[in-house]
Amino acid sequence: MRIVMVGSGYVGLVSGACFADFGHDVVCVDKAAEKIAALNNGIMPIYEPGLDALVASNRSAGRLSFTTELGPAVEAADVVFIAVGTPSRRGDGHADLSYVYAAAAEIAQSIKGFTVVVTKSTVPVGTGDEVERIIRETNPEADFAVVSNPEFLREGAAIDDFKRPDRIVVGVTDDRARGVMTEVYRPLYLNQSPLVFTGRRTSELIKYAANAFLAMKITFINEIADLCERVGADVQDVSRGIGLDGRIGSKFLHAGPGYGGSCFPKDTLALVKTAQDHDSPVRLIETTIAINDNRKRAMGRRVIAALGGDVRGKKIGILGLTFKPNTDDMRDSPAIAIVQTLKDAGAIVSGYDPEGIDNARQMMDIAFASGPYQVAEGAAALVLVTEWNQFRALDLPRLKSLMVTPVFVDLRNVYRASEVEAHGFDYHAIGKAD
Ligand code: UDX
Repeated sequence: MRIVMVGSGYVGLVSGACFADFGHDVVCVDKAAEKIAALNNGIMPIYEPGLDALVASNRSAGRLSFTTELGPAVEAADVVFIAVGTPSRRGDGHADLSYVYAAAAEIAQSIKGFTVVVTKSTVPVGTGDEVERIIRETNPEADFAVVSNPEFLREGAAIDDFKRPDRIVVGVTDDRARGVMTEVYRPLYLNQSPLVFTGRRTSELIKYAANAFLAMKITFINEIADLCERVGADVQDVSRGIGLDGRIGSKFLHAGPGYGGSCFPKDTLALVKTAQDHDSPVRLIETTIAINDNRKRAMGRRVIAALGGDVRGKKIGILGLTFKPNTDDMRDSPAIAIVQTLKDAGAIVSGYDPEGIDNARQMMDIAFASGPYQVAEGAAALVLVTEWNQFRALDLPRLKSLMVTPVFVDLRNVYRASEVEAHGFDYHAIGKAD
């Protein structure tokens, strides 16, 4: 299959490289000339484990290329994926579809022969209908079908998620397009990954429902964690105790500082807006958003409480700034609200992150350290915000010797109270009685 990815951001790039690895011919297109130039020099615009090697091997095999020229690529394509951004629109929280619609109009001009146009970007219900209308209006002669095929890739594990998906969802009604999509995913299909064929609107909603459900699941365990602290229970044991019930499932039950990232905050908000527009409010999700927003600031207040209520002039070190490990993504990271709350209370904040410092510089005005031990120097408290592997086996005596007061706030429950306390720390975890 000849595949074009319109948009070489996170989703387009990972999907394009993986499709090429399946043996398809893939052209990734992007308007950002610097990005394409960098990719043509083997430089990745994002940090994703394994991506540079995957791109390099498929480029040298001649199956993957990068260009700013959409027209010729689309002319030759069997399938064109739209993988452009759908950020929250300023002001109203709806998904901003202007990039999707602009891509559709541009693709329409170059369609030759039967072409399947697939929306991979996360788009509200009904967007496929509008993409179809735009293509027909722009090029009434075009022979095409519009399909919805949402992605379920986790940052930091995106390549593995692509190659070993729990399922592939394809919203398609046209038989020819269904055949093409089966061909596109054949290697996974042969590998027993279930292909769920459904209507286009249903497929669009599946993506939002999945992300909203996961956001709700995290938020549920976060509230249970708060309750655990009050009643003297242990949230990790509660997670295990409920998660072993197959109807609940053990994943996404790690209590923490609240979810962030490029998907959950944006997609939950967009779902709420769509539901309100259709007079069918999703109140559980509305509440989930409100609880999660409050939680991030509450985590900052928890650090202040751990220091006895006054942090003025005290140095506080943050371990981990990205919204999760193995990414450099800072979008909606809990660290942003936590740092702000601490700074508002007069603390002097410093932070370290293995990959996120460049992005963090754009978002927060704090001192950045070169490693976890430098963060600890002179600190009144250390706050573990992101569970990077390199924070899992810190030299606790060394950390303590560098700090002014040995307060350790572990917002990801990485450590065991007994081991940290044995080294003389005042240790605070999530969802456990102090
Ligand atoms: C998510 C979805 O998992 C993916 O399917 C979708 O396509 C895009 O959004 P991602 O945002 O990369 O992926 O990260 P994910 O691993 O899902 O984590 C999201 C947030 O939830 C992070 O802030 C993470 O720390 C938090 N989280 C996750 C928890 O606090 N507890 C958990 O148990 C799981």
